Amino acid sequence: MSPYGDASSSRTLAKIDWDFPERVAHSGIEGIHPYPAKFIAELPRALLESLPVAPGTAVFDPFCGGGTTLAECQRRGLPSVGIDLNPIACLMARVKTAPRPSGLKDAASTVADCARRRPDAKIPAIPNLDHWFDRPIQVALASLAETIGSAPDAYRDALRLALSSIVVRVSRQESDTRYAAIDKNVDADDAFTLFLRAAARLDSALAQRDYPLVRSEVFEGDTLAFDPSRIGPIGMVVTSPPYPNAYEYWLYHKHRMHWLGLDPLSVKAREIGARAHFFKRNPHTADDFARQMTKTFDLIRKVLTPGGHACFVVGRSRIHGRIVDNARIVEKAAAGFDLVFSAERTIPARRRSFNLSHANIKTETLLVLRRRDAECA
Ligand SMILES: C[S@@+](CC[C@H](N)C(=O)[O-])C[C@H]1O[C@@H](n2cnc3c(N)ncnc32)[C@H](O)[C@@H]1O
Repeated sequence: MSPYGDASSSRTLAKIDWDFPERVAHSGIEGIHPYPAKFIAELPRALLESLPVAPGTAVFDPFCGGGTTLAECQRRGLPSVGIDLNPIACLMARVKTAPRPSGLKDAASTVADCARRRPDAKIPAIPNLDHWFDRPIQVALASLAETIGSAPDAYRDALRLALSSIVVRVSRQESDTRYAAIDKNVDADDAFTLFLRAAARLDSALAQRDYPLVRSEVFEGDTLAFDPSRIGPIGMVVTSPPYPNAYEYWLYHKHRMHWLGLDPLSVKAREIGARAHFFKRNPHTADDFARQMTKTFDLIRKVLTPGGHACFVVGRSRIHGRIVDNARIVEKAAAGFDLVFSAERTIPARRRSFNLSHANIKTETLLVLRRRDAECA
């Protein structure tokens, strides 16, 4: 491709139906654990297929969530790097891209057997614990978490992810996206059975990856404070940033984090766009998002090779009654980049948060930006 023009990639991108109406079902690893606002795999896949990635570079997702971009990179044999603040997201991304631990189902059975015989596990101090979890479930989850803690290293991440995936199911929380407490009639035995099933499902999803697992690195931390010398060189960025007042990743995973011994409040404090930041004494505004995206592009400029593309998927949000076009904010933050393509895509109804549905926001924008070459920047 010419270093100056990428008219042919823009033409290729223009031919794609970004709603992916043909999409039928989740492939194995896409569905191993719930995550709000995750990419459908087709989206990063289409970008990776259509745009060039310079040899010797990696693809970077600075808000990698559950690792959809990273897993798609592996499928195409491209090295990748991701950062996310949320430890559950990082756990998903790591497990999806790591080798399948052999004997995972047996390891899960051993853990479940030991946990059943461990009625004295320490139950963590979780706010409103009895409101959300029946006592026998508390004991089962605590014993599973404690037993997994002493399982061999090779299995720990996968077993923690299997446990995380059942937490909402065995709680009284109505569903992943509904916070009403309801009676679900689950007992401790169900918790062990569901854990074993989750481990078996995970094992078979990991086994379906019939391609070599090239390097994929996941950093847990704040992208806005990330040291660029830890990564690079980067040939392409594919990401979807969190945006104001739309989703609450920390809240979604709050119970899961508690059971895995992680601290949801420290995630909440640094989470870009979390609703809580918009309802405090000095509320965040769209200007805060503009500053956060400027910082994100400061990082991207330090690692992305000239001529490399940065692809952002971003929606609108409603802040204090006003609809904010976050795509325009991202575009403005991208100093030194040219917009080479953009498209509007429908957000699937099941992926719209309550806040987005309430504001009648039904589409999001794909922006493909290209870093100017050094000599013409
Ligand atoms: C739209 S989601 C990304 C979903 C991802 N594309 C996927 O397929 O799973 C945005 C992500 O940004 C993360 N995030 C929020 N604030 C962050 C920060 N300060 N640093 C790094 N990640 C952050 C959230 O935890 C969330 O996972």
